[in-house]
Amino acid sequence: MKMLPAAMTLLSYFTLSMTQPTVLPMTATPSASEIVAQVRNMSMAQAVAMWTRVDPDNEGIFSEQTMAKLFEEYDSNNDSHVSQEEFTQRFGANEPELNSLGVALFALIDMNHDGVINTPDIRAFYATIDTNTDGHVDRQEFVTYFADLIMAMFIAQLQQMQSTTPTSVTGPVG
Ligand SMILES: *[C@@H]1O[C@H](CO)[C@@H](O)[C@H](O)[C@H]1NC(C)=O
Ligand SMILES: *[C@@H]1O[C@H](CO)[C@@H](O)[C@H](O)[C@H]1NC(C)=O
Repeated sequence: MKMLPAAMTLLSYFTLSMTQPTVLPMTATPSASEIVAQVRNMSMAQAVAMWTRVDPDNEGIFSEQTMAKLFEEYDSNNDSHVSQEEFTQRFGANEPELNSLGVALFALIDMNHDGVINTPDIRAFYATIDTNTDGHVDRQEFVTYFADLIMAMFIAQLQQMQSTTPTSVTGPVG
């Protein structure tokens, strides 16, 4: 897996997160609320782990430039935007069954719905995570946003396993 000098890429980390079905020990028959609690717990732990990777120097900030750099890695033909194909190929590089998750995540980040992820989308996505709108994403904003997102993605994945109806992922907004 390709590494940035400072941090493993954010979205590669998503891939790792999704390929480790260590969660949900199904020994007894857990209640729905126990499953939700476990998924929430797991999502929080993964969001915290992601934070340590995007802020390895412990500066307390995940900058928009850092995020833009992560997306540069997805732009394999260097045309300044990330197509859905580039995104899903990279995202699902290790696990082809992650393709539908990649498609859902792409649709979420393509915030102006023009079919590519480029600078306006990255700005808008960053602003979505910056919930107090001070121009910086700090640890609490980052962990809250991604814990909710990972949980939504995980639940969508579970639902998809249980039905043939396509599900979409809606990220936490605002
Ligand atoms: C959540 O994780 C904490 C430790 O991080 C643990 O003490 C707690 O039992 C966990 N809760 C569930 C529902 O798994
Ligand atoms: C894109 O840019 C990277 C880094 O500069 C380079 O390694 C890669 O070969 C380029 N790819 C193409 C298709 O131009």
